[in-house]
Amino acid sequence: MANDVAATTTPLAELHMHVEGSLEPELIFELAQRNRVTLPYRDLDDLRSRYEFTDLQSFLDLYFANMSVLRTAADFADLTRAYFARAAAGGVRHAEIFFNPQAHTARGVPLGEVLDGLGDAVAASEAEFSLSSGLIVGILRDRPVPEADAMLTDLLASGAPVIGIGLDSAEVGNPPSLFADVFARARAAGLHAVAHAGEEGPPDYIRQALDLLGVERIDHGIRCLEDEDLVDRLVRDRVPLTVCPLSNVRLRVVDRLADHPIRAMLARGLAVTVNSDDPAYFGGYVDDNLAQLRDAVGLTDAERETLARNSIEASFASAARKAELL
Ligand code: ADE
Ligand code: ZN
Repeated sequence: MANDVAATTTPLAELHMHVEGSLEPELIFELAQRNRVTLPYRDLDDLRSRYEFTDLQSFLDLYFANMSVLRTAADFADLTRAYFARAAAGGVRHAEIFFNPQAHTARGVPLGEVLDGLGDAVAASEAEFSLSSGLIVGILRDRPVPEADAMLTDLLASGAPVIGIGLDSAEVGNPPSLFADVFARARAAGLHAVAHAGEEGPPDYIRQALDLLGVERIDHGIRCLEDEDLVDRLVRDRVPLTVCPLSNVRLRVVDRLADHPIRAMLARGLAVTVNSDDPAYFGGYVDDNLAQLRDAVGLTDAERETLARNSIEASFASAARKAELL
């Protein structure tokens, strides 16, 4: 159920959400039946009992395994519409959603099925959910660079309505520098650029993402706090950080939500936004993140308002759409 969002507050943009991570257990079972996929779980409870993670990799293992039920354009469209419905109920009016083509093509699902389904839902999101939306293609950084390069070539040739390129999956040992050429080509083709950095990886990966990939936002970025010079730079240049508090707790980046540094980050002047990352796996959507932060760290209404304004300003929405939302 969505949390109450006061009618007078600035609406939210969600800028860091992996659509495959919004695949709820019920939909996993429904799609398995639709596509005659045999799941290795007895029932919903058995599946849910596996949502206990020790680090990013332990989550990624389940995240990729559960994608086996996504096969057709209709599956991707249903998944995306379910996210839009839930996000809109929680006060989101603009969403930029990640998807991982390599995770689907590697298991034999044609890129066209993925793009048709996502494109269909995105094209209808304003009419159906009063929510503007865009797609950001996520490169899997733990797979070979030439594979990412080939995926970008196919994506650009498809003419799909993708607004940006991102970098995700297992961070440590897979630095941004590996993907400098792929990002340069994507930016030359007019795509916005973002990257996951400083989630489990060191502050230097945040510097690499800025300097070598030319990113406009950092996804997570929480480990910037270990490097005072880097924080100064992020504040000075107003680089948005798409922080995901419930994800940080579930993936053990932060011990408890009560320890989350979000208020300190705001006080330091960082352009922080709050996002859900993989809401079906981490215990909540963006409004749940905000509601739990209020209870756990005493997030104030004024801070919530700043987070909402930051999210609209950091989005890749048109100037006209931003003006409408602010
Ligand atoms: N893919 C989906 N969620 C992710 C996360 N939190 N970090 C890196 N890659 C991801
Ligand atoms: Zn993420």
